[in-house]
Amino acid sequence: MCGIVGYVGGEDASDVLLDGLKRLEYRGYDSAGVAVLNGPVLDIRRSVGKLHNLDVLLKKSPLAGHVGIGHTRWATHGRPSEENAHPHRDASGRVVVVHNGIIENYSALKAGLQARGVKFESQTDTEVIAHLVGEAIARRKKKDAPLAPEDFLEAVRETLSELKGTYALGIITADCPGVIVGARRECPLLVGIGEKEYFLASDAPAILSRTRHAVFLNDGDMALLSSDGVKLFSAETGLPVERKTTHLPWDPLQAEKAGYRHFMLKEIHEQPRAIEDCLRGRLNVDEIRVHLDTLRLSEEQIKAFRKITIVACGTSYHAGLLARYLIEKWVKAPCDVEIASEYRYRDPLVGPEDLVVAISQSGETADTIAAIRHAKEKGARTLAICNVIGSTLYRESHGKILTHCGPEIGVASTKAFSSQVVVLYLLALYGALLRGSLPRPDVEKIMQNLLHLPHWVGEALKCEPATIALAKKYFHSRNFLFLGRNLNYPIALEGALKLKEISYIHAEGYPSGELKHGPIALIDEDMPVIAVATQGRVYDKILTNLEEVAARGGRVIAVATQGDTRISALTPDVLWMPDMPESMAPAVNVVPLQLLSYHIAVLRGCDVDQPRNLAKSVTVE
Ligand code: AGP
Repeated sequence: MCGIVGYVGGEDASDVLLDGLKRLEYRGYDSAGVAVLNGPVLDIRRSVGKLHNLDVLLKKSPLAGHVGIGHTRWATHGRPSEENAHPHRDASGRVVVVHNGIIENYSALKAGLQARGVKFESQTDTEVIAHLVGEAIARRKKKDAPLAPEDFLEAVRETLSELKGTYALGIITADCPGVIVGARRECPLLVGIGEKEYFLASDAPAILSRTRHAVFLNDGDMALLSSDGVKLFSAETGLPVERKTTHLPWDPLQAEKAGYRHFMLKEIHEQPRAIEDCLRGRLNVDEIRVHLDTLRLSEEQIKAFRKITIVACGTSYHAGLLARYLIEKWVKAPCDVEIASEYRYRDPLVGPEDLVVAISQSGETADTIAAIRHAKEKGARTLAICNVIGSTLYRESHGKILTHCGPEIGVASTKAFSSQVVVLYLLALYGALLRGSLPRPDVEKIMQNLLHLPHWVGEALKCEPATIALAKKYFHSRNFLFLGRNLNYPIALEGALKLKEISYIHAEGYPSGELKHGPIALIDEDMPVIAVATQGRVYDKILTNLEEVAARGGRVIAVATQGDTRISALTPDVLWMPDMPESMAPAVNVVPLQLLSYHIAVLRGCDVDQPRNLAKSVTVE
């Protein structure tokens, strides 16, 4: 959570930092701040609330200088307030720190500092770092001489050795003008290499408008940025380390709103293109082959796996639930799907004969990373499905498949979900081909369907006016029930998650067969029931469930197949989907649910792209 930006270059640092923070605001948005060095003069501006407030403050009270660090916060320790906003200073005011992550032993460190007479300004865990670095610098400083960059680095390195927990750090000091020191442990941090300018950032979108060359720090790496360039070191040994430069594949324009009112709406509409990008070069229908070049699993390994376990959180977990149906049906292999935060603390029966697949848009979700590490320790082969090249999950997993949907900025995941689903279709097909578990004509048909999927998703987007009308009818409702069955059950869960996270309406997703086992007691006219009921093998079953709802005065909103007269006889509130093969339906049916949630949230005046209490990537436990 939280966003970090650092800048060393020829331009006005506060402008560059603010621009970078705007592009990272999705990571946290309860307060923000910047610190800029003007020669040896170090100054800070911080404000509570959205970045706009910091912008206003900087206009009133500008900061001059070409070196600085900035932060947008998602509170962990201490409520959102000006004192708790980053950057945090040491007692002398000559050292400032921005930090993502959690310092687990901060209470003990704070007690030690207080015993030495240090006064604290904030309730944060971060402030201890500023004081400790300040003390370490004081021990190295020679009278009337600036601190050498190597000594600054050593002072930070000494401090790191005292910290327990996780961090991405950016630190500057008035004692060493022109230098930023960065460090990483279990929180993402990268360095951007521009034209005579260098950046520190927690996420690539912060630097995309200035450079697409990035070096991703490994855990235990430190970075020293100055106008001379960037040097990397090991925090453990202090010796230089080499990391390769990655070309970021994202177009900077993809991180702009492009005329849409919200990123979420833009990203919903980008789905046909995102699916095309995800499929590009991966299907060869003529030869009936699936190309997954970075899978790094031999044919023998794929054939031999005893079981596939999928670990993920939130929306990515819903993609995993869908994958289980595909893997069982097409690959004919056992598949478990686990919530990563639970899996990491269990003692799962997993070993070298298993494949553990982690699904994560960001590739930085702490629980998913921990789950994959847990599986690796037990000898399992691991595979990451993620959207961010160079992310922790991407680097730590044996194999990887990128979803290629471009940067997703809206906190509520939409196009990332569709592209995850597409990768999972590809993975299941790949496995089915290698294991010979699906007749080749069936594989060919599915391939053709996949190539047609962007068109069906485009057709689904045409229901937006109907979702607006339904949003107007239902946005005052306080509870919603989402029903789906079989392949559409994960879609019902995803619809409920979308609605609750951006509109703050209570919503629950259920397999419709469970209705009679409890939830039917909730049905009345104040509990709209949204049912995903397109044609397929369980269509009749779900229709029966909906009749039971209608018979009890419940109001049904159905996602159904164009021309379905049985549905239109049941309810006037239908979102019509194109006629499509059942196996493709989930990737299409999610679209009207995303649109409906979006328009309900807009009508309720909610902040769609930055919903309360949420952050885009959950990098702490
Ligand atoms: C999605 O709308 C949510 N914001 C959230 O559930 C998200 O999917 C989850 O935190 C997992 O993120 P990841 O895909 O980056 O791992």
